[in-house]
Amino acid sequence: MSLVEEISKRRTFGIISHPDAGKTTLTEKLLLFGGAIQKAGAVKSNKITDHAKSDFMEIEKQRGISVATSVMGFNYRDIKINLLDTPGHQDFAEDTYRTLTAVDSVIMVIDCVKGVEIQTEKLMEVCRMRDTPVIVFINKLDREGRDPFELLDEIEEKLDIKVRPLSWPIGMGKRFKGVYSLYEKALHLFEPSKRMLSEGVSIDDLSDPVLDEKIGSNDANQIREDVELIEGVYPEFDTSEYLAGRVAPVFLGSAVNNFGVRELLDCFIDIAPIPKPRATEERVIEPNESKMSGFIFKIHANMDPKHRNRIAFLRVCSGEFERNKNYHHVRLDKAFRFSNVTAFMAQDKEVIDQAYPGDIIGLYDTGNLKIGDTLTEGEKSPYKGIPSFSPEIFKEVINMDAMKSKQLDKGLRQLMDEGVAQLFTYELGSRRVVGTVGALQFEVIQYRLQHEYGATCRFAPVNLYKACWIDSKEPKKLKEFVADKQRHIAKDKDGKLVFMAETKSWLQMVEQNFPEVNFHFISEY
Ligand code: G4P
Repeated sequence: MSLVEEISKRRTFGIISHPDAGKTTLTEKLLLFGGAIQKAGAVKSNKITDHAKSDFMEIEKQRGISVATSVMGFNYRDIKINLLDTPGHQDFAEDTYRTLTAVDSVIMVIDCVKGVEIQTEKLMEVCRMRDTPVIVFINKLDREGRDPFELLDEIEEKLDIKVRPLSWPIGMGKRFKGVYSLYEKALHLFEPSKRMLSEGVSIDDLSDPVLDEKIGSNDANQIREDVELIEGVYPEFDTSEYLAGRVAPVFLGSAVNNFGVRELLDCFIDIAPIPKPRATEERVIEPNESKMSGFIFKIHANMDPKHRNRIAFLRVCSGEFERNKNYHHVRLDKAFRFSNVTAFMAQDKEVIDQAYPGDIIGLYDTGNLKIGDTLTEGEKSPYKGIPSFSPEIFKEVINMDAMKSKQLDKGLRQLMDEGVAQLFTYELGSRRVVGTVGALQFEVIQYRLQHEYGATCRFAPVNLYKACWIDSKEPKKLKEFVADKQRHIAKDKDGKLVFMAETKSWLQMVEQNFPEVNFHFISEY
């Protein structure tokens, strides 16, 4: 098969949701339809169970399990689908943000009872940064949920994206009878069963009396009215608007009952984007360029100090990746060869010889790769950075063993390369502050520094509100600002300048006083 054909057969996407909306269940059902697993219950939830929420070792174990399921490849209708799972626990939100840089589109699951939740809003912000196309799946229609029109309004308002329903429910909760697919012009009747469902009844014209026969006149009239309203209110579905990230088609169903999942998958295959061109610092690289290029978006370390290997997840962006071939590591300006290369098929890892744009492969690494690294066939320009978000919690690292400061430095550097947290080093006095999204990471860092690097540290509280990346069109003004606020200036892991703001009101005042300086909450600007 030619490279162009390989590319046209691939769809790489992520499923995102607020915890408990049904991401794991939907993932499993997609794999069942794809024939990648034979029975329900095979997909391990990567959710952190309640009893484990305060036990980070347990969480690490669960994360270990989830590494195998964090990328799942399967075939459906002759298309190779790469599904990227994202951590459910919000303390690992940065992991999710990074994963989203490696996908071409997203399916967002929303619970019809709870509507749009906070984590969904944050994730959508990340999708919007890249105009990632989004399909919405409203789940749990077998429960008494909110009015679907109201849910659509809420999605538009809170997620700041236009929606276009492509299926519509007939009743809800106990009265839920099925959905009418506006996409296929077919009626799908609901059977509360965990078995696969039969084909829908094709109904081109809603005035067809078959509809009354199937669901009764009351519901038939209701769906006629609803569909008329939908066609009147929402513009016709336009795939190009979806691909541009401006309109999200909406499907409804019940993942646990296999309901609405196949229609979702069929439409996904029809409309979801094939691997897209990607920007490096210098130019945009097309996936069908013959030379291989790709970037690392995730690293999973083995916590066992005896086996200090780690798996780096590479998204192939162009050309054909071949095992045992030399590739140029752009940051280190050195050639590397990978002999242990795995693909992730459903729940198994398998050694592979080739991979194509859109594929995610695992490279075994001993510490040369870090998040954001680019591999090419000679090209020197790296893929544009993976953004860091200003952390929420900050603590100062205090070394507890002066004899082990080298180990501490190395450990901190490697953990930051894996993206466990962010490190900010103050210009004055070299104080080091670790910033995280959740409190759990501090425990993880302390434990791992001790057990893997033999370094002991403690974390001292610091009074910080945000870390803001700073720049200015006028280099002189930036210099003046840095001189004026020297005590509050640090550098991030890439040496970028960061202003460490202590309070919100103080930051606002500083912004007013230095209008020529730009303050960013995201490292990519
Ligand atoms: P997550 O990955 O987004 O966190 O959610 P997950 O799939 O684990 O689903 C969360 C809970 O919602 C699960 O129940 C799951 O069974 C249930 N669920 C998923 N889809 C539907 C649906 O369509 N209808 C209904 N009524 N429930 C649904 P649980 O009690 O936490 O776990 P379990 O013991 O049922 O597996």
